[in-house]
Amino acid sequence: MTDAVQRGRTAPEAIQILWREHANISRVLTCLEDLVSDAAAPLEMDRLRAIFDYMEGFADTLHHPKEEHYLLPALVRRKPDLALLVQKIQEEHDESAAVMTDLRRSFEACRRDPGAAPHFRALAKDYVDFQRRHMMREDQGLLPVALEVLTDADMDALNQAFTRAEDPLIGAEHQGEFQRLFDAIVSDSPP
Ligand SMILES: [Fe+2]
Ligand SMILES: [Fe+2]
Repeated sequence: MTDAVQRGRTAPEAIQILWREHANISRVLTCLEDLVSDAAAPLEMDRLRAIFDYMEGFADTLHHPKEEHYLLPALVRRKPDLALLVQKIQEEHDESAAVMTDLRRSFEACRRDPGAAPHFRALAKDYVDFQRRHMMREDQGLLPVALEVLTDADMDALNQAFTRAEDPLIGAEHQGEFQRLFDAIVSDSPP
């Protein structure tokens, strides 16, 4: 696979899909960071809720399963010494959902008590840092290795899995809904 990419061909569709999804998640995280950075500014509750819905509904529910059910097993099959890194990635996926639960709880507390805002802002910044570290681990430690060790047949299987419309894990029927949510979240932010 490396040869094909080095010869100037574009990366396989499955890898491009993951890169695109990471880019979108990054933009949403930047919006979240911007919304909680200025302690003097009132919290934009509707926009924050949209961000949580996107991270929970898209990143945790559709993006992570693509990696867990298809990419990670293929990688460990071809390169068993990746097992520890893969385990770390899976643990972070579990942690991602748990941290979002705490963040939502803290967010709801702000609605009842404005004094809870500093704690919420701190949690939100930790969440952004956590998600960025996680994606960096994948972008730098996982996807380049995938391009190197997965065979053309492995990539074909991933391409098919990621574009299989009827697979609930891929959630094709929700793509439009999450694209609209994404567009609404990033509408005021630079590309
Ligand atoms: Fe991930
Ligand atoms: Fe990812």
